[in-house]
Amino acid sequence: MAVLTKRGLDPADYLWLPVHPWQWDDTILPLFAADVAAGRIVPLGDGPDDFRAQQSIRTFSNVTSPSRHHVKLPLSVLNTLVWRGLPTERTVAAPAVTEWVLGLRDQDEFLSDEARPVLLGEVASVTVRHDLLESVPGVPYQYLELLGAIWRQPLTTEQLDADEHARTLAALLYVDPEGRSLVGELVSRSGLTSKEWLARLVHAMLPPLLHFLYRYGVVFSPHGENAIVVFDEHEVPTRLAVKDFVDDVNVSAAPLPELADMPAPVDTILLQEQPDFLCQFIHSGLFVGHFRYLVEVMDLSQDDFWSVVRAEILAYQRRFPELAERFALFDLLTDRIERLCLNRNRLLLDGYRDRPERPHAAVHGTVPNPLAR
Ligand SMILES: Nc1ncnc2c1ncn2[C@@H]1O[C@H](COP(=O)(O)OP(=O)(O)OP(=O)(O)O)[C@@H](O)[C@H]1O
Ligand SMILES: [Mg+2]
Repeated sequence: MAVLTKRGLDPADYLWLPVHPWQWDDTILPLFAADVAAGRIVPLGDGPDDFRAQQSIRTFSNVTSPSRHHVKLPLSVLNTLVWRGLPTERTVAAPAVTEWVLGLRDQDEFLSDEARPVLLGEVASVTVRHDLLESVPGVPYQYLELLGAIWRQPLTTEQLDADEHARTLAALLYVDPEGRSLVGELVSRSGLTSKEWLARLVHAMLPPLLHFLYRYGVVFSPHGENAIVVFDEHEVPTRLAVKDFVDDVNVSAAPLPELADMPAPVDTILLQEQPDFLCQFIHSGLFVGHFRYLVEVMDLSQDDFWSVVRAEILAYQRRFPELAERFALFDLLTDRIERLCLNRNRLLLDGYRDRPERPHAAVHGTVPNPLAR
């Protein structure tokens, strides 16, 4: 406020948001120079807190005060499939989407009393449009998501039980330079066999994901970077935490009564996918993208590993027989699954050229589903 007042500007006229120093130098100054010159954007200098980049590179944990919200920024880096920006409408809708998803969980007995997934809500957001670039027909999509911020709840002890702690799902693939795997160490500390420990992992992770999918037609993208595993004091997995709702929550394009009364703007913002593609989020994100590698670092055969995963899905299905139609609609046990090939997007389809729409992951051929019998 002192900086603004000193320049003769009224603080009440401004919205406040964090910007990454690299983003400031590389995108904001070059592309918003006129706004900076006119005082419509005013740099205030460095904030007082230190931040550490998370695995997605563009979300930051507050190291100075770890209980403060994580900050997600449109760094405009091309990472994996897409330019990592914050599209205006979806970003602005983040708090509404969060409220809707938390509402589903809180009014559902199984989710709120039993599975108890931790959902790290995106509780506040802001975006700034670039008026000139937005008026250019066919402008590459990365120019429509340049400046903004999302504030996300951190995972703190408040959301965990007294004996619980958490790690990202991705951490489970870590193998140290001596060849010792983290997961091997956790299994040995738990006192369980590898198979028992895996059964506890999938029992912590799958029921909430299956329930959101089968009961509500809603999927998260539970890959290693978005999913967090909660453990008890003996390193036994107890629960699932997930983040990244607004970018990565998708709902069924097949009409379901549970989705009929989605409030605005949630209904227009969330991406809709056909049922078989909705299954891809669990198949590709979790099974192909993570479990396929987890089996390599666990002391288990492929057959043992996948039969434990299959058994957990079947146990869920026995528990909720009234959802039988949904088990067929969202068929996780299908014989073959489509192969998503992000490399094809880069090598063959999209390359590095600019395009007006965010690309969709390329589907190419199918692979046998290890969960089918
Ligand atoms: N183990 C991992 N699994 C998946 N993605 C990973 C992993 N480690 C790093 N990444 C990176 O994390 C990002 C995952 O994409 P996703 O859309 O889930 O996240 P985001 O929206 O960019 O950020 P955030 O998850 O912080 O909200 C990609 O940029 C990917 O390259
Ligand atoms: Mg993510």
